[in-house]
Amino acid sequence: MRKPIIAGNWKMHKTIAEATGLAAELAAAAAALDDVEVIVAPPFTALAGVVGALPADSALRVAAQNCYCEDKGAFTGEIAPSMLVDAGCSHVILGHSERRKIFGENDALINRKVHAALAAGLNVILCIGETLEEREQERMYDVLKTQVSEGLKGLAGEQLARVVIAYEPVWAIGTGRTATSDQAEEAHSFVRGLVGGLFGQSEAEAMRILYGGSVKPENIDGLMARENIDGALVGGASLQAEDFIRIMNFA
Ligand code: G3P
Repeated sequence: MRKPIIAGNWKMHKTIAEATGLAAELAAAAAALDDVEVIVAPPFTALAGVVGALPADSALRVAAQNCYCEDKGAFTGEIAPSMLVDAGCSHVILGHSERRKIFGENDALINRKVHAALAAGLNVILCIGETLEEREQERMYDVLKTQVSEGLKGLAGEQLARVVIAYEPVWAIGTGRTATSDQAEEAHSFVRGLVGGLFGQSEAEAMRILYGGSVKPENIDGLMARENIDGALVGGASLQAEDFIRIMNFA
C-alpha cells in the first residue's frame, strides 16, 4: 500500500509572515492524519522561517520548489541542494513545467538536479506532463516517456524510494480545467509502466505518482479513488488553509 502524499506548491506567493502563519494552520491539520504525508513548498525566502516555526516533531514536511545541479561554486543567484537541507527541507520539486517553459530547463539539466538533490539527502518530486498541443497531436506518451527516462537516467533502483513523480498536464495547470480522473489514471498507469520497464516491477509498484493541475476540494475525492493516483501536487488551492485542509482530508 502506497502512503498518499498531498503537497502544496505555493509558487511565488507568501511573505515570511504569511508563510509561517499558513504552515502553522496546516501543521495542526496534518498532525491529525496518520495515513497521509503532507508537504508544503514555500518560496525560498520563507523556507527556514517555516521550518523554524514548526514543532520539531511536526508531521508537516517542507519542500523547496527548485535547486541547482551543483552543490557549491560560482553560480550567482542559485541555491544548492545542501542549502535546502540546511534550511530544514526534506523534499525538492524539480522539473516543474514552469521551470521548463519559462526558464528553459531541459531533461538533461533536470536529471543533473535530481542526482544532486538525492546526493544531498533530499527527496525529489519530479514533475512531468504534456502540453495541450502535444496531447492533441497524440505525442503525449512520447513526451512522458522521454521526461521519465531522461529525468531518472542513471539512478540506482534503491534511489527510487526517494523519488515521487508528479504528473501535471500543462493544460490543466492554473486553468481550472482539471484532467478527468480517467485521463489522469490513464497517464499514471502509463508512467508506472515506464518506471517498471526502467527499474523493475517492485520499484514501480512502490512509486508514488501524484496528480497536479487544478486540484480543488470538489475534485480531489474522485481523483484519489483511482488506483494509480497516489496524491496531489496542488497550486492555487494550497494557498488557502481551508481548501488545502479539505484536500488533505480527501474521502
Ligand atoms: O505544482 C502544482 C501546480 O502546477 C498546479 O497548479 O493552480 O493548477 O493547482 P494549480
